[in-house]
Amino acid sequence: MQVAVIGANGGIGRQLLPRLADAGHDPIGVVRDESQFEAVRDRGGEPRLGDLEGDFEAALDGADAVVFTAGSGGSTGADKTLMVDLWGARRVVDACVEAGIDRFVMVSSIGAGDPLAGPEPLRPYLVAKRCADDYLKQSSLDATILRPTRLTDADGTEAVSLTVESLDGDTPEIPRADVAQAVVACLDIDRTVGETLHLTGGETPIERALRGDD
Ligand SMILES: NC(=O)c1ccc[n+]([C@@H]2O[C@H](COP(=O)([O-])OP(=O)(O)OC[C@H]3O[C@@H](n4cnc5c(N)ncnc54)[C@H](OP(=O)(O)O)[C@@H]3O)[C@@H](O)[C@H]2O)c1
Repeated sequence: MQVAVIGANGGIGRQLLPRLADAGHDPIGVVRDESQFEAVRDRGGEPRLGDLEGDFEAALDGADAVVFTAGSGGSTGADKTLMVDLWGARRVVDACVEAGIDRFVMVSSIGAGDPLAGPEPLRPYLVAKRCADDYLKQSSLDATILRPTRLTDADGTEAVSLTVESLDGDTPEIPRADVAQAVVACLDIDRTVGETLHLTGGETPIERALRGDD
């Protein structure tokens, strides 16, 4: 399957490309700067240009599935949260509907279910994630929404926990590598379609957790 990754140069995106290739998919790495093309190729992806604040639709040509794992990041302001995390994500959903790309995996965030319960500085971001998730759910797409807890760059453990929504300080963090592996598994597991799954670090092998064999 051709899988377009929006945010391919990000922490999860970089982990995702080789895992998609290893699973037999043809990853398309959508990045916003040609200087990132070589790194995409090195990870087994076909690089294409796309900017969520500009044009990206052509980068989805031929894709069978799209993974949204872009984000404006913590060092930008509310303007970028609106333009990238909210409006950019909604525009990608629209582009998929328009192009007939049915399968969509959204990397959202824990806390998006109840933004006002999150720490105050995070609330605009959580609102953006929540609104993008709701828009995706209301679309005609076969969507899986993953809401990971705080991300780390630790080595993957190949295991997760599907937890209830919680943003308290005790919620275990999760390596980006394990979120990437969970994305790959979702593409293969039909029962994840229509689901919103909260992911933390844990003990259950990723595929087993997502298949519901836990
Ligand atoms: N950080 C956390 O603890 C946490 C927790 C839960 C969920 N999340 C979510 O998980 C996802 C992945 O997180 P991450 O830490 O792997 O992300 P990241 O490393 O910050 O990467 C985000 C990527 O988005 C790209 N991007 C930003 N603006 C863009 C635009 N206008 N057009 C196209 N691409 C754009 C960036 O491109 P450049 O490389 O060119 O800058 C970057 O590659 C995000 O959606 C994030 O909100 C994060």
